[in-house]
Amino acid sequence: TAARTAIIAGNWKMNYGPQKASSFSMEIIPRLGPLLRSYQEIMCILCPPAISLCSVREVLDAFPTPRLELGAQNMYFEEQGAFTGELSPSMVSEMCSTVILGHSERRTYFGESDELVNKKALAALKHGLRPIVCIGETLEQHEAGKTQEVIRRQVQHSLANFAPQQAREVVIAYEPIWAIGTGKAATGANAGQVTHLIRQLYREMYGQEAAEALRILYGGSVTSDNTSEFMAQEDIDGALVGGASLKPDFVEIVHKTI
Ligand code: G3P
Repeated sequence: TAARTAIIAGNWKMNYGPQKASSFSMEIIPRLGPLLRSYQEIMCILCPPAISLCSVREVLDAFPTPRLELGAQNMYFEEQGAFTGELSPSMVSEMCSTVILGHSERRTYFGESDELVNKKALAALKHGLRPIVCIGETLEQHEAGKTQEVIRRQVQHSLANFAPQQAREVVIAYEPIWAIGTGKAATGANAGQVTHLIRQLYREMYGQEAAEALRILYGGSVTSDNTSEFMAQEDIDGALVGGASLKPDFVEIVHKTI
């Protein structure tokens, strides 16, 4: 994985409004600074709720930090107009470098399909945003031995129709749903196998070069105690962190990645 810059992204989900986002950023950003300055091969992306992006941006401006970026947790694919409650790609790109798309919570509670996620990913790329496209199997699918089949379908449909240059910008997060917020992370070996399959599928779709450039993150109960186990896998290039990104442990995770 030497040629690929690692990514540690924090998905705050529906936690921390503007005030709390500001105080928490004040707590972690000054501590992330020295780590990111001392090690060039890693980048960090904070993904607060949309309403808190400005507060985090203010702290970033006060403590300029290399390779520390902002991401949104979702967006719509249309350019503008009558879509109450949604954010457009250009709005997101004014504030963020990155957008998380197709998180399992969006797929489960808000009915997002692979086809919708794909439209969003294409819209993100068109606006210069780096999409982190999430995929992963349910516990039921996992136990029925259907992981490979589910992953194949999600990769082929959520990640379709990219131009060659776009295919290199994409990030995939493999988040087995049974490992999200449960404290039961996958094993390194298990996540290593599935991420290997993901890279292979991507190679079939976009060729060797794009597959080598592709960053694949693991997500699901990542903490500073298990992050090294995932980072040691050949096809894992970083982590998408939920619960632990709301705590100072996030700094520890970045520290362990270095
Ligand atoms: O997107 C990250 C997430 O779904 C993982 O959550 O709390 O298990 O780290 P958590």
